[in-house]
Amino acid sequence: MNCLQSWPEPVVRVQYLSESGMRAIPDRYIKPPRDRPTLKPGSEINQDVDIPVVDLQNLFNKDRALQEETLRRISSACIDWGFFQAVNHGVSHELMRRTREVWREFFNLPVEVKQEYANTPSTYEGYGSRLGVEKGAILDWSDYFFLHYMPVSLRNQSKWPSQPSSCRELVSEYGAEVVKLCGRLLKAMSKNLGLKEDYLQNAFGGENIGACLRVNFYPKCPQPDLTLGLSSHSDPGGMTILLPDHDVAGLQVRKNDKWITVKPVPNAFIVNVGDQIQVLSNAVYKSVEHRVIVNSEKDRVSLAFFYNPKSDLLIEPAKELVSEDRPALYNPMTFDEYRLYIRTKGPCGKAQVESLKSNR
Ligand code: OGA
Ligand code: NI
Repeated sequence: MNCLQSWPEPVVRVQYLSESGMRAIPDRYIKPPRDRPTLKPGSEINQDVDIPVVDLQNLFNKDRALQEETLRRISSACIDWGFFQAVNHGVSHELMRRTREVWREFFNLPVEVKQEYANTPSTYEGYGSRLGVEKGAILDWSDYFFLHYMPVSLRNQSKWPSQPSSCRELVSEYGAEVVKLCGRLLKAMSKNLGLKEDYLQNAFGGENIGACLRVNFYPKCPQPDLTLGLSSHSDPGGMTILLPDHDVAGLQVRKNDKWITVKPVPNAFIVNVGDQIQVLSNAVYKSVEHRVIVNSEKDRVSLAFFYNPKSDLLIEPAKELVSEDRPALYNPMTFDEYRLYIRTKGPCGKAQVESLKSNR
């Protein structure tokens, strides 16, 4: 594991490149032509397809019909898209706004202040500018801050930003609310899969789930057509709750070999299925590839909250979803082992979950 102790090359902050006023981005950020965004950011916004919007208001309504309608919508979104925007999700809009804004302020602090939190690939905690440790890799146009929220044993607030002064408190409060939302969504997904309502939560380790927050910062880019803010990947964990920026789009979801730019609905969360739910559901739900485009006009902040299985539990297809006709598609693996791949190689589409396929 020595390769995960330090970065293979000196770390360059993308914010620094962006603010230097350079007109041409360094070669390290130029993607091969097949990976570049084809349309100018913003111009696809008039597209007529988008990921579904699901209103969670009636998820636990006493009225069975209303509840079932909500469950059906979640089910189709998970099956058809692996992604949806959730509204009426129960998390305070004010808390969402304040938490996003405190992170924007953090990223607007001088690079030297953030440098105190510089991370290493051993845990990724702190201020970072790349995923993966492959020497010579083409990099993404973003900086980020990564922190552990759960389990409590890994939550170390001294590794969270001390300024702005409300940052730690807001992250604690925000995390608690989002964890509750994740519990509700896992119940809904379990029911929709025909499993006991606690199945997924228990498979994730009950109370002992893992959760982390990656705050992504995508600085303005002078040549947005040549690069990506975040390369195509599926999320390795269980489920992701993304709080996107309120007025600048960037997230693209892959649908039938096309990239769909998500138009953020005000106060919505973007929910997506991760690789671990693909494995547990024996591919009834699939994690879907997504990526981020950047632009020359506005920087963008997003908060990705990853809700994950306890890191040392074996994750494998639910017995209830395995039959002679539909054998287990994946070999069991712990999330600890699983996430080493992205931590080493960086984002690689869906190559990883494919590599778990059992050979029968
Ligand atoms: C991620 C991610 C999307 C975004 O952090 O895994 O996909 O819009 N982020 O920042
Ligand atoms: Ni992602």
